[in-house]
Amino acid sequence: MSTSPLSALIEADRKHLIHPVINYRAHEARGVTVLESGHGAYLRDSDGNELLDAFSGLWCVNVGYGQQSIVEAATRQMSRLPYATTYFHFSSEPAIELAQKLVELTPASLEHVYFTLGGSDAVDAAIRFITHYFNATGRPMKKQMIALERGYHGSSSVGAGLTALPAFHRHFDLPLPNQHHLPSPYAYRREDGANDAALIAASVAALEAKVAQLGAENVAAFFCEPIQGSGGVIVPPRGWLKAMREACRRLDILFVADEVITGFGRTGPLFACEAEAVEPDLMTVAKGLTSGYAPMGAVLMSDAVYQGIAGDSNDTAIVGHGQTYSAHPVSAAIGLEVLRLYQEGGLLANGQAQAPRFAAGLDALLDHPLVGDARHRGLLGALELVASKSTRARFDASLKLSERIAAAAYRNRLVFRAFGDNILGFAPALCYCETEFEQLFARLKRTLDEVLEEREVRAALA
Ligand SMILES: Cc1ncc(COP(=O)(O)O)c(C=O)c1O
Repeated sequence: MSTSPLSALIEADRKHLIHPVINYRAHEARGVTVLESGHGAYLRDSDGNELLDAFSGLWCVNVGYGQQSIVEAATRQMSRLPYATTYFHFSSEPAIELAQKLVELTPASLEHVYFTLGGSDAVDAAIRFITHYFNATGRPMKKQMIALERGYHGSSSVGAGLTALPAFHRHFDLPLPNQHHLPSPYAYRREDGANDAALIAASVAALEAKVAQLGAENVAAFFCEPIQGSGGVIVPPRGWLKAMREACRRLDILFVADEVITGFGRTGPLFACEAEAVEPDLMTVAKGLTSGYAPMGAVLMSDAVYQGIAGDSNDTAIVGHGQTYSAHPVSAAIGLEVLRLYQEGGLLANGQAQAPRFAAGLDALLDHPLVGDARHRGLLGALELVASKSTRARFDASLKLSERIAAAAYRNRLVFRAFGDNILGFAPALCYCETEFEQLFARLKRTLDEVLEEREVRAALA
């Protein structure tokens, strides 16, 4: 019996392709879903199903699929110069222009850009630059780094220790002894029902206490996402980011904003830091920088950090940090066109205009028997499903609710992120229009209703 090309592909995937962040045995048993094409907010799989993507790929395709002007910009750059190293004092026009543009668009404190291939290596570069900076400026004791519980800072060898999700530590010998975590500003899960001001004060106090415990002379930096993404879209109160930034200044530690998800219009403004006039010492970006059309990330740094690393004019030593594909010209050309689409192309403005519709759709689902919490900022949002609305009790893991939800959503031709702890994450593209939001919430409601009909799920409701 001959096998179809698709089943051969699925078999080859099962045998050879290692997928990120997955149970390998579960994947072997389930098999892969092959995606074939995309247009606007929609994806098409290899069975011909058209799916509404409510997650922008992996919170990255902010401009939507099939933007021809990006394809053209990439093609032009590929024919002209497909590769240019930034080693040996070389560079290329799009790389330089993109660096300049990013410095113009990001908070004023950030003046220098190092390009990476994605978010994990942007965080890794930030850690290396910070270490170098304190050693080079005569403060070698400053090595302790602090981040948040439920934080995600990628999966590099060291960055995954700042990440505070158990799967990234288990069997990886992380976190390292110099990596510490503070409670995240998770209003829904606070026992004391603290108001916004109390929540902010608690985070600041926790940071101060941790720095006091470690000794400020030993602490290098505090890393945070302005809104925690992979940890379940934890939206802190407005003013939280600013308060944490100011606390870092008082404590004489560097403040690193990880805007890999929140950057490029995801939360409303171009960067989440902008909403609170926050000026970080370093900032990491990726995802929306190229909208996923090619790999690229970046770490931006203040002039003070840059000057510390550069040393004085007698310093002839090389700074040994680099990658073959840093500032890749095709990715940079794509980044420039993506930025044009956000700004002159009107996508940033559309995302801002659509945000209330997105918020209203999520909030309306608070009436659903499965939904305990709805949270959102800009076009980043989540629903948290609970077994009891009054006690906020979680569903037992044995129910595998997130798998049930993901399967039902797929049947309804809707893609979003169903996290293991029954938080559903949403990140629609900035090109979504009214009809697509209507479709998103109709399909989501149907999905929740269908899962609620499942006997075991009903029985698990308190
Ligand atoms: C806040 C944050 N930092 C870093 C990363 C890692 O980025 P990448 O997956 O491009 O390596 C991610 C990815 O989701 C992220 O959300």
